[in-house]
Amino acid sequence: MPPETPQPQATVRDVTQILTRTRGLVDPVLRRAVQQLHPHIGEMAGFALGWRELDGTSRVGQNGKGLRPAIVLLAARASGARPEAAVDGAVAIELVHTFSLVHDDIMDGDERRRHRDTVWKAYGVGPAVLTGDTLLALAMDTLAQAGTPQAAAALRRLSSTLLELVRGQAEDVAFESRPWSCPDAVTVEEYQAMAAGKTGALLACAAAVGALLGGGSPSATAAMSRLGRHLGLAFQAVDDLLGIWGDPEVTGKPVFSDLRSGKKTLPIVAALASGGDGASRLASLLGARPDDVTLRRAAGLVRELGGLAYTRERAELHLHEALRLLEAPELERTAAGELAALARFVVDRAH
Ligand code: IPE
Ligand code: IPE
Ligand code: MG
Ligand code: MG
Repeated sequence: MPPETPQPQATVRDVTQILTRTRGLVDPVLRRAVQQLHPHIGEMAGFALGWRELDGTSRVGQNGKGLRPAIVLLAARASGARPEAAVDGAVAIELVHTFSLVHDDIMDGDERRRHRDTVWKAYGVGPAVLTGDTLLALAMDTLAQAGTPQAAAALRRLSSTLLELVRGQAEDVAFESRPWSCPDAVTVEEYQAMAAGKTGALLACAAAVGALLGGGSPSATAAMSRLGRHLGLAFQAVDDLLGIWGDPEVTGKPVFSDLRSGKKTLPIVAALASGGDGASRLASLLGARPDDVTLRRAAGLVRELGGLAYTRERAELHLHEALRLLEAPELERTAAGELAALARFVVDRAH
């Protein structure tokens, strides 16, 4: 990492405290919103959000990390407002995030998330599609009902974000059919545009919505959006690494699923871009409906070809840019420090 990068003095405890504090403000409003739903959809939404078991009993346990709502509330505080000013925005963003995961698991054919069955695996594809649709509708309604001029601006921001997110997802899915080798292989630049959409858009929106609801100026909101975009790109790079070298016991998601379905994740795209014999060997390993032994060999080769190191480097680079944006003197210092702690966590996380 370049020497001038400011080093946030974040500890795991700091990050846990930040996420727990956010959850305390956001969860009651999120639960009230979900309670308005049709009871059957409410059950599936509760399952997706980690509140309910499949048999309908309530559940306390591991949920999502809650990173995006924390970014919303901290961005509002960094703009000089109280976090309460941005709770509706945080709820809407977490609902959109949950919708995107429910539908994403159908598209990716993944059976496990957050250490549990995915919604489609537990309830079937049709009900899972409907649950995702409902969560999205509820997100938009939550912001629309807030009724303030800032909430209207936040709603516009969220709706354009959704177009970016689905464009990114469309590219992600289309890349599955692209070949592993040149001349039609996916480039690092194409990967970057896809990841900026599928993941960067919502993190950028989380930070921008926080700034908007916190009364931030247009330029402060734009700076927060850039910060969130960098966090999103760092986040997806790390997600790609965890999809190959992560521990499913820790991530709660399957390993090698991306490789199996032909996803063009950053470590792979970078390793293939190295060219030469190694890249050709990797392309033929990945091309032939690989079994687990072949996938382990492919993962080893990706590492040898520099795909892991390159992906970590990119994540650190985006972290560096995010931390620089947090040095802006107009930002409230405690909130900026907490955002820096979350930014470091995005890159260092194991889940
Ligand atoms: C997973 O996001 C989806 C991606 C954008 C890669 P998170 O890892 O933030 O999901 P949860 O909410 O913590 O489970
Ligand atoms: C992340 O998709 C982006 C969205 C869900 C919109 P991925 O497919 O890369 O994320 P995981 O690994 O399933 O969480
Ligand atoms: Mg997925
Ligand atoms: Mg996906």
